[in-house]
Amino acid sequence: MSTSYVVRACAALALAGSCLPSQAAAPATLPDTLEQRVAACTACHAVKERGDAFFPRIAGKPAGYLYNQLVNFREGRRHYPMMTYMVDHLPDAYLREIADYFSQQHPPYPPAQAGSGASADSAALTRGQALVQQGDPAKKIPACVACHGSALTGVAPAIPGLIGLPSDYVNAQFGAWKNKVRRAAAPDCMAEIANRLSEADVAAVSGWLSKQTPDAAARPADSIAMPLPLNCGSVPAP
Ligand code: HEC
Ligand code: HEC
Repeated sequence: MSTSYVVRACAALALAGSCLPSQAAAPATLPDTLEQRVAACTACHAVKERGDAFFPRIAGKPAGYLYNQLVNFREGRRHYPMMTYMVDHLPDAYLREIADYFSQQHPPYPPAQAGSGASADSAALTRGQALVQQGDPAKKIPACVACHGSALTGVAPAIPGLIGLPSDYVNAQFGAWKNKVRRAAAPDCMAEIANRLSEADVAAVSGWLSKQTPDAAARPADSIAMPLPLNCGSVPAP
């Protein structure tokens, strides 16, 4: 476990009131705003974390998607101990408030970390771009843009954007779907797609995605052509 992880976890716990003993004596007059509460989250999910291998950016993602993930961590459909700790026992209404808050934040993107996607050579990047934009009919892999939007900025309310995610994070998510430790409402379209992608294809896709420069003004699309190429239980019917 890296030092920065411990510092961050401690900062988060301190804000939750259980890391530093002195915190217990904090004056009761501290403003209790949502901003103050979500400061515990930004200890790990700060904007500048874009290039950090395993901390996904959550700002600006569609509210329904963020909410689904918070519930997934709480109910054990996704696994990351600190995340489970952060949302354990929080009621749905509060998770929705947190999700709405982050969906409305649109801080600028920092430049991609130099090493992100470095393992993908130019042939892999070409393959990655083709999978994202056209899919691979022979392997029954639909184009990622068919669901994530032509600009890959996601689609409200429940499909996340794919631009600005570090390659290591994307690789880890595909590993989690393949190993059935990340699950969504059935039918779980991403688990199905993950099973159709080889490890080399995952690296190609994550490498290409991590090299795309996000547009600061980009927002999730309002709608997408239906039906989707596969059914996704987490996406409400139009
Ligand atoms: C100690 C660090 C840490 C803290 C504090 C933390 N998170 Fe996370 N969070 C993570 C990591 C790491 C992941 C990715 C886990 C994985 O690989 O699935 C994650 C994933 C998420 C996701 C899913 C993102 C996606 O794109 O699918 C959401 C939403 C989220 N966190 C929200 C929050 C909120 C809200 C808080 C505060 C209440 C919070 N996090 C606090 C580390 C943290
Ligand atoms: C049939 C629609 C569909 C297609 C096609 C699709 N996705 Fe998804 N994707 C989704 C949905 C829905 C989610 C949200 C799942 C959830 O709620 O956990 C998602 C989530 C993701 C996430 C998680 C993002 C995060 O922040 O954790 C990644 C990464 C991802 N998709 C990558 C891809 C890639 C790469 C492709 C193309 C090879 C692709 N998807 C094709 C529907 C699709």
